Amino acid sequence: MLHSATLLANNDAALGQRLFSQSRCLECHGAEVFTSPARKVKNLQQLEQKVRQCDANLSTNWFDDEILAVVNYLNQTYYKFPTSNAATATPPATTSQ
Ligand code: HEC
Repeated sequence: MLHSATLLANNDAALGQRLFSQSRCLECHGAEVFTSPARKVKNLQQLEQKVRQCDANLSTNWFDDEILAVVNYLNQTYYKFPTSNAATATPPATTSQ
């Protein structure tokens, strides 16, 4: 399930950066996979999927909000997918997890 509303409302890139650097995310690939012209991820949804997949490979077992923080960090730092007006808009009511 994609929680982009939560993702954008959360905006917790600092937490994401910490989690990312404390994990072994750069063991199999460097950060260049995030910026390479051949990168596969084309939108936030795919980015979330990849982070989940790689997290599962590592058995890091990040919680959903941690996944989203890392997605947010990677997006702000590398991917820069438009998050439209959601960052400033009132977040829609979301069901709590
Ligand atoms: C066990 C090896 C491994 C580890 C550890 C790993 N990854 Fe990956 N990651 C891969 C592989 C392989 C791919 C390329 C998959 C593909 O080509 O579809 C990839 C691709 C990605 C992509 C997509 C890059 C693109 O094409 O745009 C992201 C984002 C990503 N990884 C994030 C992470 C994060 C975050 C972590 C730490 C939780 C992590 N990875 C740890 C193996 C790993």
